[in-house]
Amino acid sequence: MSLLLKAVQLEKTHHQGDQALVIFKDISLALHRGEIVALVGPSGSGKSTLLQMIGLLDRPTNGSVMILAKDAGVMNDDERTLMRRHKIGFVYQFHFLQPEFSALENVMIPQLIAGISKVKAREEAMKLLSEMGLAHRVHHRPARLSGGEQQRVAIARALANHPVILLADEPTGNLDPQTSAEVFDVLLNRVRSAGIGAIIATHNMELAQKMDRILIMNNGQLQEQRAA
Ligand SMILES: Nc1ncnc2c1ncn2[C@@H]1O[C@H](COP(=O)(O)OP(=O)(O)OP(=O)(O)O)[C@@H](O)[C@H]1O
Ligand SMILES: [Mg+2]
Repeated sequence: MSLLLKAVQLEKTHHQGDQALVIFKDISLALHRGEIVALVGPSGSGKSTLLQMIGLLDRPTNGSVMILAKDAGVMNDDERTLMRRHKIGFVYQFHFLQPEFSALENVMIPQLIAGISKVKAREEAMKLLSEMGLAHRVHHRPARLSGGEQQRVAIARALANHPVILLADEPTGNLDPQTSAEVFDVLLNRVRSAGIGAIIATHNMELAQKMDRILIMNNGQLQEQRAA
């Protein structure tokens, strides 16, 4: 299996005045191609903090993050932005779609930023949104989509530049159980068919059990539980 991501002895400490707040230290993990990993743990345990670090949105206080065998710690901000844009897709708990743009445009924008032509970007956005069951909603702005539809657009957007790593932070956290399960199935199918790797933070153990591995964050430590 090819290694996509490796984090070694990550530490995150917040400094407030002369107080040091250690969120975690000595966290290590690896993600391989074709793997879907659940990240669970109580609120405040550091799941989002960890995802932001391995998604290159934040830097660890100590430790290293390797993406495709490249050490992100020695990259400058521009190099990290490029790596994020081309290799990593991120789905947030609240979709953060651009309200003034349609679903189609929201999925086109990251591609245009990456230098893809408008025609190609549109084609790919149509394809992804159709796969998400949204072919009939592509011209709707986010406010005219249901919560589940908005999350599916956000997933399509995260996949638009063909990332090798998909990171999702409670992607279905604000949806009802049925919609949450549906959106989740779409996400898992897509990750499996694209053969990429994913780490998905969730509070829903039922969803976590559908993944290949479960990592539990608790008291600053990361433990592995084999999925049933
Ligand atoms: N800028 C900051 N300064 C100080 N502490 C912070 C800062 N940002 C986050 N924290 C703390 O870090 C801890 C971990 O937060 P994080 O958001 O990673 O938790 P989480 O596991 O994602 O929780 P949830 O399940 O509620 O989303 C929390 O206790 C939070 O208060
Ligand atoms: Mg969180």
